[in-house]
Amino acid sequence: MKPGRPSRTAQWVAFARAYATLDPPEDRICDDPIAAAYLSAPERALLLASRLPPVRAAAARESTRSPFTGSWLYPAVRTAFIDRALLRRVGEGLDQLVLLGAGFDSRAERFAGDLAGVRIFELDFPATQARKLAVRPAAQNVTYLPMDLAREPFADRLLAAGFDPAKRTVFLWEGVVYFLTREQVGAVLDGLRRLLSPGGTVLLDYGLAAPRMGVVDQALLAVSLAVTRLLGEPVQTRFAEDEVAPLFGGHGFTIADRAEVGELWRRHLRGRYAGTKLIPFWGCLELTAR
Ligand SMILES: C[S@@+](CC[C@H](N)C(=O)[O-])C[C@H]1O[C@@H](n2cnc3c(N)ncnc32)[C@H](O)[C@@H]1O
Repeated sequence: MKPGRPSRTAQWVAFARAYATLDPPEDRICDDPIAAAYLSAPERALLLASRLPPVRAAAARESTRSPFTGSWLYPAVRTAFIDRALLRRVGEGLDQLVLLGAGFDSRAERFAGDLAGVRIFELDFPATQARKLAVRPAAQNVTYLPMDLAREPFADRLLAAGFDPAKRTVFLWEGVVYFLTREQVGAVLDGLRRLLSPGGTVLLDYGLAAPRMGVVDQALLAVSLAVTRLLGEPVQTRFAEDEVAPLFGGHGFTIADRAEVGELWRRHLRGRYAGTKLIPFWGCLELTAR
């Protein structure tokens, strides 16, 4: 992260959600009408241009040709995965929601009705939180905790802010694992287990190493990983497929749901996106504390 600068990757994924939200309901992957508020002026201009039906049709066609171009839909897909699981937990009864690396996640606003009465905590670097709060007013039931969760004792900070481990809780850890080292991921999992009672939930996504795909897509993926380094938010951790279950199913958690690209595609892409190709790079998990 560049010191004092809001997260650029948080902005990218807000763009992806804003873009997806413009689709008609039969194609729409996720619905985030707040996301556009966080975009820069050039991103807003791009979003405006993407409203034009020929532009959207061409982009959708292109996403069925190459896994690399199809992959710009991924942030919307993971949001759909997490939204569905979160709303199911809300239906079962929820007291607390914690967003680790919240970025420009707008769920506190998007689901204000469903989350009324739920205490929400949002953690992220100070500059990203400051930008978020400069764009939209703070939500009443949200406690904002600016911090580096990989280096500060986030569990202690949450407890000091009134987090109650005895209450029914969901943690969201969306789009963040990539940016931590393996050791930091393990330490966060230990912190989460300390904070959750049995039955508590963690929803997260992660990156896979060595996706199988053509040379051109491999090269494009390498370029995008290099861009994240230039932006000061390098992808640090990608897992082999057989590492995922022992790591995330360890630390006192059970894997309640695991969906990687093929399964995510089957569940969440429809209409004009049904034929989209995605790089087999991502996976989403629902963990339950034992
Ligand atoms: C790709 S963005 C995802 C944001 C949000 N969860 C979403 O899905 O829209 C990654 C976020 O993680 C935050 N982040 C990464 N490493 C972090 C750390 N060590 N401590 C706090 N926040 C971190 C970044 O600032 C950024 O907001």
